[in-house]
Amino acid sequence: MENFTYYNPTKLIFGRGQLNALPNEVAQYGKKVLIVYGGGSIKRNGIYDNVLTKLDEIDAEVFELSGVEPNPRISTVRKGVEICKKEGVEFLLAIGGGSTIDCTKAIATGATTEVDMWDIVTKKEQATDALPFGTVLTLAATGSEMNRGSVITNWETNEKHGWGSPYTSPKFSILDPAHTYSVPRDQTVYGMVDMMSHVLEHYFHQTTNTPIQDRFCESLLKTVMETAPKLLEDMENYEYRETIMLSGTLALNDMLSMGFRGDWATHNLEHAVSAVHDIPHGGGLAILFPNWMKHVMDEQNVARFKQLAVRVFDVETEGKSDKEVALEGIDQLRAFWSSIGAPSTLADYDIDESSVQEMAEKTVVASPQFGNFKKLTKEDAVEIYKASL
Ligand code: NZQ
Ligand code: ZN
Repeated sequence: MENFTYYNPTKLIFGRGQLNALPNEVAQYGKKVLIVYGGGSIKRNGIYDNVLTKLDEIDAEVFELSGVEPNPRISTVRKGVEICKKEGVEFLLAIGGGSTIDCTKAIATGATTEVDMWDIVTKKEQATDALPFGTVLTLAATGSEMNRGSVITNWETNEKHGWGSPYTSPKFSILDPAHTYSVPRDQTVYGMVDMMSHVLEHYFHQTTNTPIQDRFCESLLKTVMETAPKLLEDMENYEYRETIMLSGTLALNDMLSMGFRGDWATHNLEHAVSAVHDIPHGGGLAILFPNWMKHVMDEQNVARFKQLAVRVFDVETEGKSDKEVALEGIDQLRAFWSSIGAPSTLADYDIDESSVQEMAEKTVVASPQFGNFKKLTKEDAVEIYKASL
């Protein structure tokens, strides 16, 4: 392992009925509250009304920003920043999935500075502060509820970038698995692919002696794979939703990456696809991850792929070379994602060869090399996209 400091200041409030904790949590930060949400799912499933009732208990003055897009846009962030500055907002509450939370992180940051948020997202400028904010999570996927990362898209330049700062950890996150009952089947699948991908991004690193972290990762992968088919048969099963919700948080709250740095090339590749084609993040990952694996696997690193195949996919080793075992594991990952209805080719989103170059350019817009397990370049991106067509 490498030396590390672990610090995660988000208070996780998990379980049935935990929305009851909302008034006390918010009251610690102020009464002028901006609630941020997406396209209206929270109005249809009743979460919106319940949140307002809770905020009423502390006589909060509530402002609203609705319409946060999946793959949230910088234009929406700017709208939120304007509301915060005009109204003197003291606290922000994100109600939704990763997109709403990420947008809220950017608004909270933008509200404390005169710098345009796109300059902070693209790391030309540093965040220096943020308003306090909390979240009511309604979709299990990104882990944004317990990390400081945020991913924002600029639809004018077709760029999508991840960023974060020491100020963008939620003060608290309320996770009631029942809030995810209404997540449609496709979004449920994308969420499970996303959390598995986060675990896989961690799993592929070059640091030695990480046995605990390896087993954590393998356990999360196995748990999600075991639960996914059952959940898809029984979408309002509390226990399955509960297992998946906690998996999503643990997959990206930095607990898995104690002592090493994961890869993250596939996220880089996917963000470029979404930036150009506005597809769901988890859908893009399902297409790209097995192809990234096949692209980077070589004689030096095959042991890691073999370990995954044996421990997570129970691949038999007898009479097979390491490479054969490893490839069988990759094929099983693909087969599993297909079995739950995730896409497997870019053609599933009508993306063809004509945008490969553009996506590859977007992949390296921040730096000419990407990925940590194996350093990749634009040419590698082109090959992985072509293999994914
Ligand atoms: O907008 P509404 O109407 O709320 O509908 C949403 C949206 O259409 C719907 N939804 C959410 N909760 C629901 C629900 N529908 C019914 N019932 C509910 N309870 O689901 C759709 C997708 O929501 P979104 O927030 O976009 O999904 P997700 O949580 O997968 O977030 C994706 C975004 O997060 C970024 C992705 O790149 C993408 O922009 N990521 C953020 C990360 C982070 N901050 O750590 C890491 C991830 O790797 C990822 O990149
Ligand atoms: Zn992700």
